[in-house]
Amino acid sequence: MTGIYFSGTGNTKYCVTKFTRAINENAEVFSIEDDRAVKAITDSNFIVFGYPVYYSDIPKLVREFICKNSSVFKGKKIFIIATMGLFSGDGAGCSARLFKKYGAQVLGGLHIKMPDCIGDVKLLKKSLDKNRKIIIKADKKISCTAEKIQKNSYPQNGLSFLCRIAGLFGQRLYFHNKVKAYYKAIKLNKDKCVGCGICEKNCPMHNIDIVDGKAKFKDKCTICYRCFSKCPQQAITILGNKVFEQCYVEKYL
Ligand SMILES: Cc1cc2nc3c(=O)[nH]c(=O)nc-3n(C[C@H](O)[C@H](O)[C@H](O)COP(=O)(O)O)c2cc1C
Repeated sequence: MTGIYFSGTGNTKYCVTKFTRAINENAEVFSIEDDRAVKAITDSNFIVFGYPVYYSDIPKLVREFICKNSSVFKGKKIFIIATMGLFSGDGAGCSARLFKKYGAQVLGGLHIKMPDCIGDVKLLKKSLDKNRKIIIKADKKISCTAEKIQKNSYPQNGLSFLCRIAGLFGQRLYFHNKVKAYYKAIKLNKDKCVGCGICEKNCPMHNIDIVDGKAKFKDKCTICYRCFSKCPQQAITILGNKVFEQCYVEKYL
């Protein structure tokens, strides 16, 4: 068993690692950004594959990873973990359809509610206490599901036709472009940016350069919120215009 994930702000990494190791404490877990990820998939029969849900869809870079490496999924058994803030319809189903198309067997799906990583939209923000409680619930869901899987019982979150309809009409139709295209409207507060390069080093799309001592965004953002959450100066905003809270999972553990 191998865990493979993409995680912008740490939620999915946390869930996939915890879940995979609850089933097999020696299992290896890799980010799709890790050069070893594709070989790890090739070498393993059973993959726990996790990602955050964006607008009831798969993040663009996760879809691209699956499509680019489609041949390695053939014949694999896959269990999907989709993390989310509130609602994802068929969050797990979106990748399940791709995996099936590429010849994998999808054993089940698990939706895990985690703190919402969009920290520049006030409406989505919760207190530290509420977020800690969300993690406690997630931990319980992870350990219960891991126990069930050891007895060969796989949850099917997000895999039904009804979930597909909910995801499609609940969000995917209206936010289609935000997920399918690159996002081009990241905002930098130039007075705050000190050109430290933390965003540049961490961006999974290599979408940021430091030019003349300031962050400069290119045109390949997939809205993962990593630069937002890691900026020590709180100089970056993405969907909103103000930093209400920088979210990374360690804060709530
Ligand atoms: C662009 C974007 C869109 C999102 N859309 C949804 C959504 O449709 N439903 C939901 O419940 N959460 C949504 N979220 C919240 C994330 O899915 C959630 O915080 C996730 O656990 C983040 O995982 P990560 O820390 O591994 O990146 C969205 C987050 C982002 C950045």
